[in-house]
Amino acid sequence: MLKIDLRGKRALIVGIGDDQGFGWAIAKALAEAGAEILIGTWAPIVRIFTMSWENGKFDESRKLSDGSLFQYKKLYPIDAVFDKMEDVPQEIRENKRYAELTGYTVSEVAAQVEKDFGKIDILVHSLANGPEVTKDLLDTSRKGYLAAMSSSAYSFVSLLAHFGPLMNEGGSVLSLTYIASVRAIPGYGGGMSSAKAALESDTRTLAWEAGRKWKLRVNAISAGALRSRAAKAIGMIDDMIAYSHANAPLTKDLEAEEVARAAAFLLSPLASAITGAVIYVDNGMHAMGLAVDSASLQKNAAYASKAKS
Ligand SMILES: NC(=O)c1ccc[n+]([C@@H]2O[C@H](COP(=O)([O-])OP(=O)(O)OC[C@H]3O[C@@H](n4cnc5c(N)ncnc54)[C@H](O)[C@@H]3O)[C@@H](O)[C@H]2O)c1
Repeated sequence: MLKIDLRGKRALIVGIGDDQGFGWAIAKALAEAGAEILIGTWAPIVRIFTMSWENGKFDESRKLSDGSLFQYKKLYPIDAVFDKMEDVPQEIRENKRYAELTGYTVSEVAAQVEKDFGKIDILVHSLANGPEVTKDLLDTSRKGYLAAMSSSAYSFVSLLAHFGPLMNEGGSVLSLTYIASVRAIPGYGGGMSSAKAALESDTRTLAWEAGRKWKLRVNAISAGALRSRAAKAIGMIDDMIAYSHANAPLTKDLEAEEVARAAAFLLSPLASAITGAVIYVDNGMHAMGLAVDSASLQKNAAYASKAKS
């Protein structure tokens, strides 16, 4: 039987803030495959995440297939916008959600993981932030654009630069991207489409560099629409899900678990020859060149019936 077996592997998943997003689902899938899980949670929401965990809010979604509850070995508060403490502005250091924390910059988290555990085998980047995401690109400020780039694209470069030296040979790295990198998706603004384009380009360059330097693989999953906390902030997620239902080859909701299973494969030795790839896990939406539910097609009975099926 062909099996994804990650027993003896240690994975760090950065970008888990609740039980609704891709990061959570990927962490669970890797745990199902036997990996030891470390998680990175955005510093200002660590308290709410750990309180929710302790209060049992996630218990239902923590259930694994053998009936046990998903566990992580350690949680690291992280803000992937900062590489070292000197980069953190005074107002953030003093912000009450940061003031009680230490060691949340990328270099400090890497040093702490090395101290706690030595090496890791798997690194997942499941985070993005674009403060002006609801604005058209033409209305986006330079500051907003660069903030989207920093949080959503450079953060991946920084994570790999700092964790690459701590990764065992044969290790695997993954990020999550979105089709707005290569197609115009009105509503996904603020420079987020640019950040995803950078992330995908970096996936190829980093696959080359980290492959030669550390014998690591680097891939991205371009996921379809999911009603996560981050996606709800964009404000059009329900429309995107409905659009996919009407127009994608597979007319069903995309489950985070479907993305997580593809991630587990890419992060496992089963994918040992796959690197530098962007894999679509989106019910086939990326393959379409025509919106079959377009009002302009509805006079044609063939399209009208297909849009509904
Ligand atoms: N939801 C979708 O429809 C969709 C589709 C394609 C790709 N994606 C991508 O999937 C990834 C995960 O997002 P999600 O939709 O599962 O939402 P999510 O809200 O579960 O995950 C995003 C996480 O990023 C964290 N984060 C934001 N800024 C950070 C920072 N500076 N440092 C550390 N963490 C930070 C947030 O706290 C949050 O936990 C993102 O890259 C997103 O762009 C999402």
